[in-house]
Amino acid sequence: MDAASLRKEYTRAGLSEDDVNPDPIVQFHEWFEMAVGADLHEPNAMIVATATKEGRPSVRTVLLKGYEERGFVFYTNYEGRKARELEANPMCALLFYWGELERQVRIEGRASRLSAEESDAYFLSRPRGSRIGAWASQQSRSVEARSVLEERVRALEREYEGREIPRPPFWGGYRVEPEVIEFWQGRENRLHDRLVYRRDGEGWKIERLQP
Ligand SMILES: Cc1cc2nc3c(=O)[nH]c(=O)nc-3n(C[C@H](O)[C@H](O)[C@H](O)COP(=O)(O)O)c2cc1C
Repeated sequence: MDAASLRKEYTRAGLSEDDVNPDPIVQFHEWFEMAVGADLHEPNAMIVATATKEGRPSVRTVLLKGYEERGFVFYTNYEGRKARELEANPMCALLFYWGELERQVRIEGRASRLSAEESDAYFLSRPRGSRIGAWASQQSRSVEARSVLEERVRALEREYEGREIPRPPFWGGYRVEPEVIEFWQGRENRLHDRLVYRRDGEGWKIERLQP
């Protein structure tokens, strides 16, 4: 299959300044609810881009676990690569691609750790297996074999048998406080609609970008 010959026209919808909400979080909420309603595979999967202080970028997928005016929340290991990069350089970018809806949302902002209480509350809502998994994995470090991880899991299961599994101190959430949010809707002939919100004092300024 020749990648250059793959071509799709986007015809589902348009995006106009008159239709969007002046608050991008409310606008995100509308699109997110539509993505969930459209039964997409993991509509809360988002790409997180981080960069070292020297500007070397890296990306990976994580799951959005909450959003409100203060920002977009995901959970991870605080000692893995993305967390180390965020600790050194909190500026990051998020991306949602909802292909079936011909939509993309790009967010840029600053990440900060959730409070211990917030991370505890989410951790305790996770299934027991995921909680054990969080303890077992030294995220982003190399391991000799999968069996090493599996043995760690068995040992942790023995250790915590009949007991509540607390949140590891090295695991928790980040909240990305948005400074820029762009909504992209695919259109005919690649003349896509792009509306970008930028912080403007207490509110937001909306601008249309060329596709
Ligand atoms: C659909 C999907 C969801 C994921 N969700 C998370 C998540 O919520 N948190 C997380 O730490 N890693 C998640 N991962 C794994 C990350 O993509 C990545 O492999 C891991 O976080 C290590 O990244 P790092 O080495 O850059 O820190 C997910 C992967 C996929 C494909």
